[in-house]
Amino acid sequence: MQKKVDVEKALERKYPEQVVLVTTRNKQGKNNVMAVGWVTMASSEPVMFVLGIDEEAFTYQNILETKEFVVSFPSEKMAKETLFAGTVHGYNRDKIKESGLKIQDAETVKAPILVDAIANFECKLVEITKPGDCPLIVGQVECAWENTNKKLKRLYTVGKNHKLAGVRIKK
Ligand SMILES: Cc1cc2nc3c(=O)[nH]c(=O)nc-3n(C[C@H](O)[C@H](O)[C@H](O)COP(=O)(O)O)c2cc1C
Repeated sequence: MQKKVDVEKALERKYPEQVVLVTTRNKQGKNNVMAVGWVTMASSEPVMFVLGIDEEAFTYQNILETKEFVVSFPSEKMAKETLFAGTVHGYNRDKIKESGLKIQDAETVKAPILVDAIANFECKLVEITKPGDCPLIVGQVECAWENTNKKLKRLYTVGKNHKLAGVRIKK
């Protein structure tokens, strides 16, 4: 049975929602990382991701400036770092150093990949559109990496107020 409710109330039932970390490096060479839940694939050939990123985010400014970024899938072990990346702006902070996230050079973009993530996707900006109140950033994947540890579980937002946890897939 369905009960009609406010949109906000029904949205409380959307979890689990995937979360990714987006890294950027601006022209001054400063690395940054932010958490993004509004993400999905936008194309399979070529592979593209679309991310909803607020204009106020340092990441948004960096993507406008450099036209590139990395989409990284955090593992369930990265919940603390993901929450930090998603609750502090990087304008005056070095979130990668402060969180202890390990980084490695990417191949096709200047933004770093995250060593302990499950997978990393180097992306070049294709376009930014704004159908509602949030800019949608479309990026084409130029290079991809996966963690050699196949047992890692991806991190998801499993409830309101950034409740993060690993979601296990039953085999
Ligand atoms: C789990 C989680 C998911 C988030 N999803 C988004 C999102 O989809 N879009 C967005 O603009 N901000 C999102 N945020 C908030 C940003 O990560 C946050 O504003 C961050 O401080 C921006 O960092 P920056 O200014 O260094 O780029 C999310 C935060 C968390 C914890």
